Amino acid sequence: MRPLLEIRDVSVRFGGVKALSGVSCDIAEGEFLSLIGPNGAGKTTLLRVVTGQVKPETARIILAGQDITSLATHSRIRLGLAITHQIVRPFRSMTVLDNVALAVGHERLNRVLPALVSRDRTKERRRALELLKWVGISDMAERDVFGQPLGVLKRLEVARAMALEPKVLFLDEPLAGLNNIEAARLADTIAEINRQGLTVVMIEHNLGEVLRVSRRLVVLDNGVKIGDGDPGEVMHDPAVRAAYVGKEGSDAAA
Ligand SMILES: Nc1ncnc2c1ncn2[C@@H]1O[C@H](COP(=O)(O)OP(=O)(O)O)[C@@H](O)[C@H]1O
Ligand SMILES: [Mg+2]
Repeated sequence: MRPLLEIRDVSVRFGGVKALSGVSCDIAEGEFLSLIGPNGAGKTTLLRVVTGQVKPETARIILAGQDITSLATHSRIRLGLAITHQIVRPFRSMTVLDNVALAVGHERLNRVLPALVSRDRTKERRRALELLKWVGISDMAERDVFGQPLGVLKRLEVARAMALEPKVLFLDEPLAGLNNIEAARLADTIAEINRQGLTVVMIEHNLGEVLRVSRRLVVLDNGVKIGDGDPGEVMHDPAVRAAYVGKEGSDAAA
């Protein structure tokens, strides 16, 4: 069967910096793939090429058989790509529920004739509440997004991304800044979302959680893919250990 997402030969240059060199990766429907590598390896850049936010030197991106390489970001989102960002910033004061309802509303506007969208927000709010339950923050529905702790904002990001009813959910360091307990809980939530059928691609530095929840590991180092496969096997690869874990880390893990 054809992969859901085909990422072919991605090369990116920022001025004198070669951020990615010929990276390819096929992602099958239903996978839970984690993308790891040292800071500056090119992980976020790869995601941004897939979503169309960074213009590559070379690349071909195919989603569900459709070549999306030259499409604008909003068109790619409409076709099923959703991304959560490393740094979460709510853009204006509103309740947690309305923040998600807005994302649900955008989804509806994109899919049906605007004339058919009712002014009544009841449906959007009902769907938003379902999503908040999914990510475990429905208690916070009527609170203002400002002043919410990072753990809630990270979950809110996931709910907003799911409101777009994506085919693939990309998460850029969803666990960063969370304590161990919160990180494990959010990783469980993401794993459950994946178990329900959504394809997940997660950039993450928290190796413990990565190894616990993901079923495939892709490793970037200096813009080059140096590992791809079963997480346990990839982590035992000497090249990956040398590049990613580093000398001390690989001794400690030995
Ligand atoms: N917009 C940009 N302009 C210039 N250089 C960039 C830009 N984005 C990323 N880079 C550089 O590209 C390389 C890869 O960055 P990035 O994809 O953010 O790595 P990672 O997410 O793996 O930490 C780094 O050297 C970074 O400094
Ligand atoms: Mg990054």
